[in-house]
Amino acid sequence: MIELKGLTKLYGKDSKAVAALSGLNLSIQKGEIFGVIGHSGAGKSTLIRCINLLERPTQGEVWVDGVELTALPQRQLQEQRRKIGMIFQHFNLLSSATVYDNIAFPLRLTGTSKAKIEKKVKDLLALVGLEEHRNKYPAQLSGGQKQRVGVARALASDPDVLLCDEATSALDPQTTDSILRLLLDINRKFHLTIVLITHEMHVIQSICDRVAVIHGGGIVEQGNVAQVFLKPQHEVTKEFIGSETQQDGPLRAALDAVQGEYTQAVKITFLGQKTYGSTLSQVARGTGVNFAILQGTISTLKDVPYGQLIVRFEGSSQAVEATLAELAAQGLDVEVLV
Ligand SMILES: Nc1ncnc2c1ncn2[C@@H]1O[C@H](COP(=O)(O)OP(=O)(O)O)[C@@H](O)[C@H]1O
Ligand SMILES: [Mg+2]
Repeated sequence: MIELKGLTKLYGKDSKAVAALSGLNLSIQKGEIFGVIGHSGAGKSTLIRCINLLERPTQGEVWVDGVELTALPQRQLQEQRRKIGMIFQHFNLLSSATVYDNIAFPLRLTGTSKAKIEKKVKDLLALVGLEEHRNKYPAQLSGGQKQRVGVARALASDPDVLLCDEATSALDPQTTDSILRLLLDINRKFHLTIVLITHEMHVIQSICDRVAVIHGGGIVEQGNVAQVFLKPQHEVTKEFIGSETQQDGPLRAALDAVQGEYTQAVKITFLGQKTYGSTLSQVARGTGVNFAILQGTISTLKDVPYGQLIVRFEGSSQAVEATLAELAAQGLDVEVLV
């Protein structure tokens, strides 16, 4: 659906040039919600703005739905761009126009008839839950309502792709979740491909199918959210998930206290329905070991439950080994820590 091939973007000229993207490749499939996460300055905004050529890459190709945008003359590019909607961190609404006029704006640009505009805007207002606010001005709306106008405006030209540049970064956590739910809803209803960039793992965890981690203008890791989230490989990814720092302080001390042949500390990862099962206690009862939970998370990735426990087993070395083998045989991921 979206192919970025060898994208390089330099800002500035010659010796003063800064590379915001360096030969970046990325492939995004139709209908998925694809997240790109990275620190400030990593190149996220540049990347997403290159997808609709708001920013022209210095080198490389941008393909959307089989069309190479980087090869199109301006007029045809304008046409293709209509298939790509975008929402922004600071909403970018017209402050002197009502909610209705903000949403109608892209339709008027393309000469749509008044009757068609009325019907379309009405539908969009219903979709984003703003029917009662149609005559208000942006200044009279909350942040979440403004972003709902942004979403409605982006959908006015029936795009195939929605680009979201830190669309929830200016919102409080509750409002963030309501906007994320709206995006998920739209993705499912219209099979819209959504690309979102963020610096918050929570956003990725809530609605994304796949994720890429951008660092220094390149992708350093990507994959299914569960795979990247539960088994991060790159240092930057680990930082975002906090999987290293979790082993600081009291937990570190508890792990360091695990010594001798009769105890072992392991990290057990559950995915899917196994998360809510009683496998751990059943296996421990069978092998006769005791266990203590040193740290634990049970949560969800999009709709998929997962759990990650750090557990200390106590028993004979044979019994502990048998326990680990049985847990693995039951389909749990077991990583020995100490
Ligand atoms: N218009 C610009 N002119 C010069 N440098 C820029 C411009 N836009 C971004 N940069 C630089 O490019 C790098 C990537 O920026 P950006 O894509 O905005 O990152 P992010 O969105 O991840 O914070 C940064 O070093 C930034 O300072
Ligand atoms: Mg940015």
